[in-house]
Amino acid sequence: MRKMTFISSITGLGMVLAGCVSHKEASSDRIKAEREAAQVVFDEQGEALLPKGYRSWVHVSTSWLPITTSLLDGMITKTPELFNTYVEPIAFKTYVKTGEWPDGTLFAKEFTTTRVDAECDGPPAYVCKRWYGKAIFQSAYTGVAIMLKDKKRFPNEPGNWAYFSFGHQPPPYQPASPPRARERCAQCHIDRAGPKLDYVFSVERIGLDRAGDSRRDILEASLPD
Ligand code: HEC
Repeated sequence: MRKMTFISSITGLGMVLAGCVSHKEASSDRIKAEREAAQVVFDEQGEALLPKGYRSWVHVSTSWLPITTSLLDGMITKTPELFNTYVEPIAFKTYVKTGEWPDGTLFAKEFTTTRVDAECDGPPAYVCKRWYGKAIFQSAYTGVAIMLKDKKRFPNEPGNWAYFSFGHQPPPYQPASPPRARERCAQCHIDRAGPKLDYVFSVERIGLDRAGDSRRDILEASLPD
């Protein structure tokens, strides 16, 4: 369903480029597409299937962590890791406008390794030499974690958030995840982010800043009208 929506909006865009469709028609296509939020599908065992297309949601932050114990599997990471955090577009828009995460909100936090080739220094940063200077690079995808706000399915969880993780490994990731135990995921979000942030750390990150004019700026930069 979502896939079809996506295709139809791409087609709409193609037609705009070709100059065949009025602005009004193009934006009504887009509005239609935007009304259909990405959703998590649950299998018969109550496990969440890894949502498709999360890398095309709104990217709201990148963070970098030196080698440490991974919260995905409790193992020491092989390289420093970066995380990229994405928010489902309709939830993003609602949050930027209202400051509230609507029911159905989805976050994806994807992990990557850092490049550690012969041209790179060692720990902690693995800064690599290139012709233009020095840089740190993402190297390979290595896992993804999801948060879903779902009142009906998780009425007793703080903020109605459920947490899922799909392995600490190169893609393909594990196709499904049970809701992870509170001690493993939620507790840290409860203790450290807490109800004031609705348990979401990323509201303090660059892409979710609602102060002053930045609200309008981040909306315009993230999603077309
Ligand atoms: C020790 C604390 C801790 C634990 C345990 C933890 N997280 Fe988080 N989580 C964080 C922090 C800190 C961030 C913000 C990362 C950043 O961008 O700097 C975060 C961010 C996230 C995000 C992006 C939304 C947000 O709150 O910013 C998701 C999704 C997420 N975590 C899922 C999980 C899942 C799934 C688990 C269990 C496998 C888990 N977390 C366990 C601390 C934790």
